[in-house]
Amino acid sequence: MRKKIVAGNWKMNKTITEAMELAVHLTEYQNEFPKDTEVILAPPALYLGSLELMEHLNVQLAGQNCSEKDSGAYTGEISAGMLKAMNVQYCLVGHSERRQYFGETDEIIKNKVDACLRNEITPIFCCGEVLAEREASTHFVCVLKQLQGALWHLSSEQVKSVVIAYEPVWAIGTGVTATTTQAQEMHAFIRLSLGNHFGDDVAESISILYGGSVSPLNSAELFAQNDVDGGLVGGASLKAKDFAAIIQST
Ligand code: PGA
Repeated sequence: MRKKIVAGNWKMNKTITEAMELAVHLTEYQNEFPKDTEVILAPPALYLGSLELMEHLNVQLAGQNCSEKDSGAYTGEISAGMLKAMNVQYCLVGHSERRQYFGETDEIIKNKVDACLRNEITPIFCCGEVLAEREASTHFVCVLKQLQGALWHLSSEQVKSVVIAYEPVWAIGTGVTATTTQAQEMHAFIRLSLGNHFGDDVAESISILYGGSVSPLNSAELFAQNDVDGGLVGGASLKAKDFAAIIQST
């Protein structure tokens, strides 16, 4: 059985006071969360310690990014080992905003996946095509290249510790969601590709999340697809009620 996961990516939003308020608000809903769904929050890294100390918040924490290095003179960076030492279990790697605005290449992302695994952090590896690639019907080629670049060097045992998030870039923060057909066919393609490379048993065990304008209005339908194992939620995770409704729809 694959793990169902809903992860909230807060990006660079909220002051510490607002962040704590949001977390408290979320605890009011958590009794209604399905027991077999893993709920993850990826706040700005500065707030991870405060959220970790919040007594009644039953979620796992994720970094939004980490360094590919383990330690040293890399001003401004945060290592996977530092995240681990703060009880953080997950880290987003290769989010399209990191690729687009911070020049992250497949090689850098591969190194970050390795840094996470070295430090027993589960990478949530993000992939997805831009609109031009979708329009040119090269989206499968694009996603396969991203998977190959960052994951194909791993052993079957290692890749089982990776979560994948398919996030079509044209759907992120735009209010335009992939149709259930578009999401399912890409998720099935990702699983098929994983199966061809690592074996079907491995592919069957890996959770593949959908991301891109997930909302309480579309989450149930998306999560009902065979190969969609949950969601990576941006904007809607900033409102406790909406995020809770999305979790409840798994
Ligand atoms: P969105 O962001 O839900 O606001 O589209 C998703 C993401 O970037 O992970």
